Amino acid sequence: MKKSLLFLIVLFFIPFVRSAAQGTVMLNLNAAGAKDTISRHIYGHFSEHLGRCIYDGFWVDPGLNIPKQDRIRMDVVNALKKINIPNLRWPGGCFADEYHWRDGIGPRDQRPKMVNTNWGGVTEDNSFGTHEFMELCSLLNCEPYIAGNVGSGTVEEMAKWVEYFNFDGISPMANLRKQNGREKPWKVTFWGVGNESWGCGGNMTPEFYSDLYKRYATYARDYPGSPLKKIASGASDWNTNWTEVMMKNVPAGQMWGLSLHYYTIPTGKWSHKGSATQFDEKEYFSTMKNCLAMDEIVKRHSAVMDKYDPKKKVALVVDEWGVWTDVEPGTNPGFLYQQNTMRDALIAGSTLNIFNNHCERVKIASLAQTINVLQALILTEKEKMLLTPTYHVFDLYKAHMDARLIPVQFTSPDYVSGDEKIPAVNVSASLDSKGVIHISLVNVDPSKKITVSSILDGTKWSGVSGQIVTSPKFNDYNSFDNANKITSSKFTAAKKNGNKLTVELPPLSVVMLELK
Ligand code: AHR
Repeated sequence: MKKSLLFLIVLFFIPFVRSAAQGTVMLNLNAAGAKDTISRHIYGHFSEHLGRCIYDGFWVDPGLNIPKQDRIRMDVVNALKKINIPNLRWPGGCFADEYHWRDGIGPRDQRPKMVNTNWGGVTEDNSFGTHEFMELCSLLNCEPYIAGNVGSGTVEEMAKWVEYFNFDGISPMANLRKQNGREKPWKVTFWGVGNESWGCGGNMTPEFYSDLYKRYATYARDYPGSPLKKIASGASDWNTNWTEVMMKNVPAGQMWGLSLHYYTIPTGKWSHKGSATQFDEKEYFSTMKNCLAMDEIVKRHSAVMDKYDPKKKVALVVDEWGVWTDVEPGTNPGFLYQQNTMRDALIAGSTLNIFNNHCERVKIASLAQTINVLQALILTEKEKMLLTPTYHVFDLYKAHMDARLIPVQFTSPDYVSGDEKIPAVNVSASLDSKGVIHISLVNVDPSKKITVSSILDGTKWSGVSGQIVTSPKFNDYNSFDNANKITSSKFTAAKKNGNKLTVELPPLSVVMLELK
């Protein structure tokens, strides 16, 4: 080869060699292309009558020596208000299809008891019912998302619950509501028609359920001022056939949303899911890989929906997601109590980035579950309460609520484990109504710092600030003895140089940047 040609080849490759050596990821942000809104309801939560979520979580013993309103504990209310909780799904989950709402109204000492057969076989005393849940939502200043009973309830029962919630006038259910102390209707709009109807909600085929859905949905009426956003029970994981049948059989006008459930199982095996805190890097890697699969799962269900609904009128509602591990040793297996680690913070940040990036279709999501169950935001132990690493990620990400999604393009370096690899970095960005840009970045690599750079031409910004959630080990967690081991703190490794933004992401970190 001629020397001059060799020289030219070397010259051509120098920039790439340099950027690879420095490990810099170039991030392309198209702020002018910001169009779709990231619904704040993507940041929603789920509270089921399961284990210690409602009882001992939200609704506590009257003798507990902490600030309470009725029996609602105010420390958790205040913590959830701080992250601007937009909605709360209730009463289940599997419990919803066994719940008969009339057992949960009227004088508490006269309410019938039932067995919670799904979750530990414990006695449910129905002391927390419709009025108590609506009081909780009013304290939280969030929208209720009710899951109606299709599995073991009747069409009439669901229709009457809607009337009880929403009718303003003289009617048997409105009168009953008033008799129970609530004059005005609550105007609930998010309405789930069954839950996991392919499983605990009735073990149905999608063909059978789609007909049943139409029947229940027909009589769940829109009362003046409260048009229902009816959400059909949807698929689990990769089952696009359920989505296909629902989209084919139910006209768009009869279904506001279709749900999807996907849980991250660390080992990928339901029989032995893996410990919440005791895991090695191999299991950490497989957990993150399973978490990131959410992107492809959302894409596949969205592609099926696009076939029937190209204008994207029907929302994809991911109303159960999060990491599901083995329960903490010594706790009731039916209560699904698990600790929450730095790994879970990375799962939260990555999944929320995925939902943001699919906000044209994903309009609601609910993390399972708010307190003491699965990937919780809050853990309680009698009077004590702690905020988990997952909570702190939601605190950072609230900046994206109702902002417009900025399309991003970049190629992540790989995080390699054995002969497998996943993207080390994931990101989403938004532009809020004041013109402020927020960028959330997650580095899942446990040992490598990654530098991300972006040239923001055509964007006005005079500075950058940030916050970070990080910890040295992926299985670090907040305990009742050390409740603030992982919190959020000021992030100073983002710099502005002219129009160039350079960010140094530490290993195991979730970072939120603000450019204004
Ligand atoms: O969140 C726990 C359970 O997981 C829910 O009750 C059910 O819908 C799902 O299988």
